[in-house]
Amino acid sequence: MASRGTILLTGGAGFIGSHVAVEVAAAGWTPVILDNFCTSERSVVERVGELLGSPVRCIGADIRDAQAMHAALGSISAHAVIHLAGLKAVGESVEKPELYQDNNVRGTEVLLAAMDRFGVRRMVFSSSCTVYGTPQRLPIDESHPLSAINPYGQTKLDIERMLDRWVDAGPDRHVCSLRYFNPVGAHASALIGESPLGIPNNLMPFVVKVARGELPELGVFGGDWPTPDGTGVRDYIHVVDLARGHVAALERLDSMHHERINLGTGVGASVLEVVHAFERVNGVKVPYAIRPRRAGDAAAAYADPSLADRRLGWRARLGLDEMVRDAWAFANRCG
Ligand code: NAD
Ligand code: UFG
Repeated sequence: MASRGTILLTGGAGFIGSHVAVEVAAAGWTPVILDNFCTSERSVVERVGELLGSPVRCIGADIRDAQAMHAALGSISAHAVIHLAGLKAVGESVEKPELYQDNNVRGTEVLLAAMDRFGVRRMVFSSSCTVYGTPQRLPIDESHPLSAINPYGQTKLDIERMLDRWVDAGPDRHVCSLRYFNPVGAHASALIGESPLGIPNNLMPFVVKVARGELPELGVFGGDWPTPDGTGVRDYIHVVDLARGHVAALERLDSMHHERINLGTGVGASVLEVVHAFERVNGVKVPYAIRPRRAGDAAAAYADPSLADRRLGWRARLGLDEMVRDAWAFANRCG
């Protein structure tokens, strides 16, 4: 089958980008990965190729490097860019706010300038529900007030605003900012998934390491939140569902100026629900202890995903059982 066109995936070797590459290819486009491998490994690109049955083109480059970005965009004729490259560790962003501004915000500026030079006018951007700050009401729809509660969140708000200016600065430009809730899980093949460096900050990779015996127990951050079982509630979304959302956005980009759309399931799960689902589905033990609340956390956050349904014809299909099953299978095969 002839390709429908080339899609450049910045950060395409990462957890989410690798899954997006697979879904983009399945929909008939040709993915090209661009990554500097600061938080990912080159072997991921090979595994994406293995999954697709043919190698995927990969450009090793930093989005902040104007020359490299010109060379990259000049060497392909990109229909659109899916812009996933970015640093995402909240704690690190508090310690190194300048690094986050430089990598995420300035990096996006350089990327957009290179796109301008080569006439690439479509982008799907990896935003985050962190742009809503502390939830004021639930479920969170796209009109919820915005605020940044850490430097990482500030970069997502800054980039969304930069993209507002970019779509207005020239004719026929189209952007969809996808505000992800909590992506977890892995591809059903167990060839690609999430493998953060060092001790994980996020719940699911931490649970995986405890289940494997690499960490002694999970610290549950707070048992006294105003939630049904006292532990924090989030909207976990399977990474394959999330990846499909990017394809849906890509297909409808030409009808958009700059739209912001939540990608979540609309269903909240507590920390203990995740732990218990993990134990039940995978037949393993996840020892845990209730600890003090983590600074900056909210009791509960979950999406109103109805705009994604209306605008993209997209709904999450996979539930918590598939998320914990696939996260575990990946950890045991490739993690
Ligand atoms: P990840 O760290 O696995 O992937 C990010 C990729 O971007 C990595 O491969 C990294 O090497 C690359 N990268 C970073 N800076 C780069 C640069 N300057 N030049 C080129 N490549 C660079 O993270 P992920 O979970 O796949 O996240 C992808 C995007 O989604 C990020 O923008 C992140 O902020 C956003 N996001 C993630 C989550 C989440 O919980 N995983 C939630 C909301 C939004
Ligand atoms: N949690 C624990 N123990 C842990 C890790 C997490 O109890 O070791 C709890 C948290 O307190 C929270 C829930 O598990 O209640 C989820 O925590 P994560 O760190 O996995 O996810 P967050 O919702 O806190 O935040 C993450 C990113 C944010 C991003 C958000 C939505 O860190 O930057 O997902 O994408 F905005």
